[in-house]
Amino acid sequence: MKIDVLLGLQWGDEGKGKIVDVLTPDYEYVARFQGGPNAGHTLEFNGHKHVLHLIPSGIFRKNTKNLIGNGVVLDPAVFAIEVKKLEEAGLQARDNLVISRKAHLILPTHIILDTAQENAKGDLKIGSTLRGIGPAYSDKTSRLGLRVGDIELPDFQEKYNKLRDLHLRSYPSESQDLNLEEIEKKWFDGIEVLKSFEFVNGEYYTNKALDSGMSFLAEGAQGTLLDIDFGSYPFVTSSTTMCAGACTGLGVAPSKIGDVFGIFKAYCTRVGSGPFPTELFDDSGQLLRDQGNEYGSTTGRPRRCGWLDLVALKYSIMLNGVTQLIMTKADVFTGFENIKIATSYMLDGNNTDQFPYDSDTVGEPVYTELSGWKSDISGLRDKNQMPAELINYIRFIEEFVGVPISIISVGPDREATMILK
Ligand code: GDP
Ligand code: IMO
Ligand code: MG
Repeated sequence: MKIDVLLGLQWGDEGKGKIVDVLTPDYEYVARFQGGPNAGHTLEFNGHKHVLHLIPSGIFRKNTKNLIGNGVVLDPAVFAIEVKKLEEAGLQARDNLVISRKAHLILPTHIILDTAQENAKGDLKIGSTLRGIGPAYSDKTSRLGLRVGDIELPDFQEKYNKLRDLHLRSYPSESQDLNLEEIEKKWFDGIEVLKSFEFVNGEYYTNKALDSGMSFLAEGAQGTLLDIDFGSYPFVTSSTTMCAGACTGLGVAPSKIGDVFGIFKAYCTRVGSGPFPTELFDDSGQLLRDQGNEYGSTTGRPRRCGWLDLVALKYSIMLNGVTQLIMTKADVFTGFENIKIATSYMLDGNNTDQFPYDSDTVGEPVYTELSGWKSDISGLRDKNQMPAELINYIRFIEEFVGVPISIISVGPDREATMILK
């Protein structure tokens, strides 16, 4: 079997958690392959809302096994809280979650470093979630990091102390008014929770499942435009958020990639700083924020909102080899008289269809205007009942990017979904 990959095509929060939840009845395995607790993936069903940061969104399906892959950076303290929350919801994560020994650990001092580095940036702040992501990945590539498998070694505490002291030499914790001892206690309590889970050699685990004909879904975090290489650098996260990241973050060969599900919102949002060509600063932007409840799942920050950007979408589709598109939050446009879509940018008097190099080369979007749909579509479940304007919106996007839209989401609940193809 091949492994299917599901990922966000914009700046994150496209509704990946919801869609993984919708698709999991078809999958025996779901794995996270990158990112860490900077992610916030929301699932809603049976009147309850759940937000996951580290644990894959297949956890609520009894027959689905979940893996935290080697490409993830894991904070044991956040992990322990998440496990507890699931327990309170009546679910024992241990029953169907395993963790790759090669996943790197986020230390308390990584969070101190993250905060210090962000503060030092002044006007160029990324708007990081301050979960220690950047410093943890830096230590990984600097070959200094601690991995989940190290917990099993007799000298784990020594290794931990060595790395912590190295961090503290550059940024003493006192400078941030933090009680490191208290934070470390929670972290080591988290290590104990982590130890009660099964650690696996994730690359063998995944390939064995695929070789024995099991269905496998890789769940991306963040979005393509936050990718370390191809996102709007330096306003990005520190991992490979694209399809290629599923290969390195799980240990599967590129030839084993099957379907690539690309998720996008019917408009755009971004949380944190960085270029956003179609951003709206007017009433339409506020209406999208209000109707779409656009406030971060991890930090609660208001998300920046704007029109759908087809230049950016096409760029993401190209980078990921997307085979099927999934459009979420179509319901949020209810009541909009007209909807704009960017199809190119004007830059220095020239028309371009390429995503900009950096924030200084962002052009003015060139828009096509389409009619909005007046009726509330959040209750819509039958694709044959879709208003003509919505069908027109879908067709316009499909024709522009050349990839079919196979699922439309019209609300946060798993039931608020229409399978088109
Ligand atoms: P993720 O990070 O990609 O999993 O997305 P988030 O969970 O951070 O943000 C998506 C938000 O939109 C969550 O609050 C979801 O419950 C919600 N959501 C997902 N799909 C839809 C949809 O089709 N319509 C509406 N109105 N909300 C949605
Ligand atoms: P999900 O998986 C939206 C953004 C942050 C910041 C930048 C770097 O829920 O879609 P970091 O914490 O990685 O140092 O932050 O990336 N960011 C996200 N934005 N959704 C996310 O995840 C994000 N994870 C990070 O806001 O601009
Ligand atoms: Mg999110």
